[in-house]
Amino acid sequence: MPRTPALPPTFRWGVSTASYQIEGAATEDGRGPSVWDVFAARPGAIRDGHHARTACDHYHRWPEDIALMRELGIDAYRFSIAWPRIQPTGRGPVNERGLAFYDRLTDALLESGITPLPTLFHWDLPQALEAEDGGWMSRETAYRFAEYAAHTADRLGDRIRDWITLNEPFVHMVFGYALGQHAPGHTLMLDALPTAHHQLLGHALAAGILRGHGGRVMIANNCTPVSPASDTAPDRAAAEAYDALHNQLFNDPLLAGRYPDLSAYGVGDDLGGSVKDGDLALIHGTLDGLGINYYNPTRICAPTDDSDGLPFTQATIDAVPSTAFGWPVVPEGLRELLLRLGRRYGDALVPITITENGCSYPGIDDPDRIAYLDGHIRAVADAVAEGVDVRGYFVWTLVDNFEWAEGYTQRFGLVHLDHATQTRTPKASYAWYRDLIAAHHRSQ
Ligand code: NOJ
Repeated sequence: MPRTPALPPTFRWGVSTASYQIEGAATEDGRGPSVWDVFAARPGAIRDGHHARTACDHYHRWPEDIALMRELGIDAYRFSIAWPRIQPTGRGPVNERGLAFYDRLTDALLESGITPLPTLFHWDLPQALEAEDGGWMSRETAYRFAEYAAHTADRLGDRIRDWITLNEPFVHMVFGYALGQHAPGHTLMLDALPTAHHQLLGHALAAGILRGHGGRVMIANNCTPVSPASDTAPDRAAAEAYDALHNQLFNDPLLAGRYPDLSAYGVGDDLGGSVKDGDLALIHGTLDGLGINYYNPTRICAPTDDSDGLPFTQATIDAVPSTAFGWPVVPEGLRELLLRLGRRYGDALVPITITENGCSYPGIDDPDRIAYLDGHIRAVADAVAEGVDVRGYFVWTLVDNFEWAEGYTQRFGLVHLDHATQTRTPKASYAWYRDLIAAHHRSQ
């Protein structure tokens, strides 16, 4: 029986998923192609040639997945809405059958006593917006995103109060546009920076619409506490530069109304000319809550010959366990991150929700996952005790699913997926999380 963490009675527990990683049914009911369909079809793009055309078949098996959530006892479910189901070409009239899917899902969640928490964009951009406009490199995509948000809020806004606009815009920029390891697969390096601004602009325009429907708005930012590999001045300067790019670039405009100093990158605060007059005023203050996705801390040292002209190099974190993905396990890093956010933004900080935290390990008996989750939940409780306002915690993820460029080789689920048969088998961590939630609910 898990020890009940010292968290307030109002604290909310959940799990997170994303449309492309679980739904499958890629061509059904009028869904248009997304950038991920096109990218995944490139030879060599996805490990072992995996694809997400069926994924977890959640599009058909959602009643079974909701039953698993009900049994788990979660308060809320974070899922994402596939834009190409709502607007197959990213613009123009809505596809009724696509909207109807999320309408049914929303009703079924509410009937099960689970609060729906949709994310509007978890990387599956309609391919037409990439082909015609260059995706998030274009300012036009921000306006299209707002139009899509309006259609979705018109339909679901009577039942959905809390919304997340974007998932991990940093990761989308870096892997999708700078390094080419995710869709749409561009290798623009620092020339990808306009995608940061256009995503934030899209967030802000959508936030206005969602608030107009009485909604509350969050973004899910992937954040990491950055530390220098040594106390030398070059390592410290490199760590500061990395912190600005990874954390501040996506938090400062929202919470402080300005972009961080990116001069170490030779970049001005107009991010490659993308920032127009009035944009920052539009972006500032558009959060009612901050979603944090945390997996691990980051250690940085001064650039080397292999740094591709960037002002930092990533160093390894030794002497700690690592997940099957090779990611260091440092629960204390989550407490540190939360305290740093509190210090940096002070009164401007909005309530935080941990919108993702989890780990990849094989097996159905998964003590390492239990230890990981236990440690991180305790780190959240410590940060709350030290004064940071954290309102909820969502495990990534419900069921093993399509882990982007890694295909199905990395298993983050509380529930095991047999991909060949689509059989779902709850893992030991599922029972552990269920008991933890029940114990916390009982203590209220
Ligand atoms: C963050 C992403 O939002 C999610 O899609 C991904 O599967 C997890 N991290 C694990 O890598």
